[in-house]
Amino acid sequence: MNGRIASLGAIEILDSRGNPTLKVIIELHGGTRASASVPSGASTGAHEAVELRDRDLKRYGGKGVRRAIAAVSEIIAPKLIGISATRQRDIDKRLIELDGTKDKSKLGANAILGVSMAVARAAAKSVRQPLYSYLGGIDEHRLPVPMMNVINGGAHADNSLDFQEFMLVPHGAPTFAEALRYGTETFQALKALLRKLGHVTSVGDEGGFAPKLRDNEEACGLIVEAIEMAGFLPGKQVAIALDPAASAFRVGDGYTLSKSGGGPKTSDELIDLYAQWSDLYPIVSIEDGLAENDWEGFRALTAKLGGHIQIVGDDIYVTNSKFIRQGISERTTNAALIKLNQIGTVTETIEAIDQCRSAGWEYIISHRSGETEDPFIADFAVAMGSSQIKAGSLCRSERIAKYNRLLEIEHELGDAAHFASPFLSR
Ligand code: PGA
Ligand code: ZN
Repeated sequence: MNGRIASLGAIEILDSRGNPTLKVIIELHGGTRASASVPSGASTGAHEAVELRDRDLKRYGGKGVRRAIAAVSEIIAPKLIGISATRQRDIDKRLIELDGTKDKSKLGANAILGVSMAVARAAAKSVRQPLYSYLGGIDEHRLPVPMMNVINGGAHADNSLDFQEFMLVPHGAPTFAEALRYGTETFQALKALLRKLGHVTSVGDEGGFAPKLRDNEEACGLIVEAIEMAGFLPGKQVAIALDPAASAFRVGDGYTLSKSGGGPKTSDELIDLYAQWSDLYPIVSIEDGLAENDWEGFRALTAKLGGHIQIVGDDIYVTNSKFIRQGISERTTNAALIKLNQIGTVTETIEAIDQCRSAGWEYIISHRSGETEDPFIADFAVAMGSSQIKAGSLCRSERIAKYNRLLEIEHELGDAAHFASPFLSR
């Protein structure tokens, strides 16, 4: 019968870091064909679902994914063939049961997610709907505010910055297309500014510049200067978001800013630093300002700054409803980052988002530092009515693919498209 899964398999492709990943290819009875590619993180949370890698040192330094591919074709496919691709929830439940582990390590979260995403895409195609309206319903029409990572540090660049991401948030734009222009023109101004100051303009994993700056704070100052150079108003039209990814510089009970030579800090000292910066710079959002195991620190940060700044949990929640629920009841943050491959199926990702919605939290759909050209998250962000998307810098096609897809969706929605900032001007 049309719409039922006829075949399911995967091939080994490369991600943006040159590491292998899976592209899952699915065919339905009736001739619909679809595929989905799986991203991969570098600064991964300890409780994330686990990728299955070959560990065969003779291929790709052990990072091959032939075992995950075998899981798709030999274990998953026989159980899903014949089922209608529109039964996403049922299919994802079967995938979880088939794996049987808490962290999806048996079949691999990469194998499972690739199948889950490919099923969604095939089902959308089979009912002739764009992915965003298939997953979100015909009412979904919100375009997310992009968070563009224009200065890279931490685990994403070999430079002097401990903090992983310094992002532009063009929240004062009237449309997504204009937001993209505000961000891009600021990115180009930043490049000119770095060049003028004698810094290198080579880029890190997410396409942001990776200069060797004096310290982390200098990055904020340069971004403000670039916003002004590009002709925009800092805080009113273009603001700053940070993702220090603090788990990466957690040492014992404290933090050590070793890349910049900044020395050790307690949670309270870090929180004070963020408070100072948010007085000095137009910061609207801080993600992973503390480490994944520093729930108390997060609570203190949210108590101090959460009234006017978005405090986002990424590694601490790993898109897991269980951790998000705890965060809601303990007021650990006021927002969550959402990454499909942290949890491993489309259905569980939607459950995590439902948790956020029930608490009135913002949820930000995010890429990974290792990406492919697959723009799935662009459709997903619109489907989920997310106020924000994190998709990296304004160069490198694996990042731009997401922005270009959002431009296409905005165009397709026409007058119905809605772009609204979740932030007050700062
Ligand atoms: P990752 O980084 O994909 O390397 O985990 C992204 C993030 O921390 O938000
Ligand atoms: Zn993060």
